[in-house]
Amino acid sequence: MSYDDPRLAVVYDVDNPDGPDHDYFRSFVGGATADVVTDLGCGTGILTVTLARAGRTVIGIDPAPAMLERAAARPGGRGVEWLLGTSEQIAPESTDVVLMTGNVAMHILGDDWHRTLADIARGLRPGGRLAFETRNPLARAWESWNHPLTERETPVGRLRESGTTSPPDESGVVTTHYVNEFVEDGLIIEGTQRLQFRDLERVRTDLTSAGLEVQHVWRDWHRTPFSNTSLEPLMVFETRQSATRA
Ligand SMILES: C[S@@+](CC[C@H](N)C(=O)[O-])C[C@H]1O[C@@H](n2cnc3c(N)ncnc32)[C@H](O)[C@@H]1O
Repeated sequence: MSYDDPRLAVVYDVDNPDGPDHDYFRSFVGGATADVVTDLGCGTGILTVTLARAGRTVIGIDPAPAMLERAAARPGGRGVEWLLGTSEQIAPESTDVVLMTGNVAMHILGDDWHRTLADIARGLRPGGRLAFETRNPLARAWESWNHPLTERETPVGRLRESGTTSPPDESGVVTTHYVNEFVEDGLIIEGTQRLQFRDLERVRTDLTSAGLEVQHVWRDWHRTPFSNTSLEPLMVFETRQSATRA
């Protein structure tokens, strides 16, 4: 789905309500110092606004204006600082916690991924923490992503949707061509979404190279340890800033 259309941002919101993933991220934030919390790829900000507390600064960053506008307009939106952009918006040593939720990590491809991790490592204060989830390629989720034409009512009109997904390329990037049509006014939004699958060892290596020490990898939102052989669809990483600073 495109994140660039205001009506599709509303549909995203409806399709991705608060749930056990958000409970997990809230508890991660609450687990240690969290005076400044940055939600990178915050989307429509459903989770972000719930992180606000007296004495805490919460920052939501996203490159899609339609998502960010919806985030800023939601109840509680005034309690968050919203920034348009990506990880370059994280100032050096500015934050205690960074979150990437809703598989944001998979949206960041190739060299951008390494740049993002470097920006996060630089942006975290000493001992600061990062948590995010990514899909386990061994579970081959993409095999169920082809979907023929379906139609449904949404809060912003009747929506026809279809998608065709290709298997991963040599870098693990899965491409979906999607078509969304708002039936009443005939507006068609079509495009391509690319998501990069990375296996456990690859993510570990990328994090370590960036100066982020992996503390835990879970296979669900209840903190069950992930094993090397796990075919579970989810990998949840908890990391800590490990670079020594002068
Ligand atoms: C599936 S949505 C997740 C939104 C939100 N975190 C959630 O849990 O609902 C993915 C988000 O990642 C954002 N995104 C895409 N590329 C990004 C990048 N390079 N850096 C940060 N966010 C990015 C998109 O604009 C989109 O809002």
